[in-house]
Amino acid sequence: MASAAELVDRLTLVVPDFPEPGILFRDLTPTLADAAALRAITDELVGRFAGAFDLVAGIEARGFLLAAAAAYAAGTGVVAVRKAGKLPPATLVEHYELEYGAAALEIRADQLAPGTRVLVLDDVLATGGTVDATCTLLERAGAHVAGVGVVLELTGLGGRERLAGRDVAAIRAV
Ligand code: PRP
Repeated sequence: MASAAELVDRLTLVVPDFPEPGILFRDLTPTLADAAALRAITDELVGRFAGAFDLVAGIEARGFLLAAAAAYAAGTGVVAVRKAGKLPPATLVEHYELEYGAAALEIRADQLAPGTRVLVLDDVLATGGTVDATCTLLERAGAHVAGVGVVLELTGLGGRERLAGRDVAAIRAV
């Protein structure tokens, strides 16, 4: 049976010059659309942090796909970490820098019981700005970040270094 990493390699599309010239875009859409790959990815991420989390947080948008599957598999609930402006008040907001420009993420202010152990999931780790802001948000809300799981880690962009001290797992590093 193929491993999660093998399925990621086989099914993920590599698209040059998207969304901008010079960017090599990794499209996980076909990977997550494959039943065996979705199961293998989910099982590996959940298994890696087994027993260490009470809740899964997924980062908008593609992290949602992983987080709901992982939460269901682990028997936990799921929290959506949303782009700014999507949630009704009261929210906690964290601003962060993108490669080009700035962005903000939000969660509900009253959503997490103190000390809740949260597993953060997203599709891709690049500069780490998105995950870093998410972890900060969750900790401001009183949660404990149990770990970070991604399908693809793009090495050379400083993401893992930015998250130094956190337990970060990637199905595949490229
Ligand atoms: C992508 C990806 C991660 C983030 C990684 O999301 O899904 O969330 O970028 O980049 P970073 O490590 O440099 O922060 P994007 O902002 O494109 O949003 P989307 O999932 O809504 O398309």
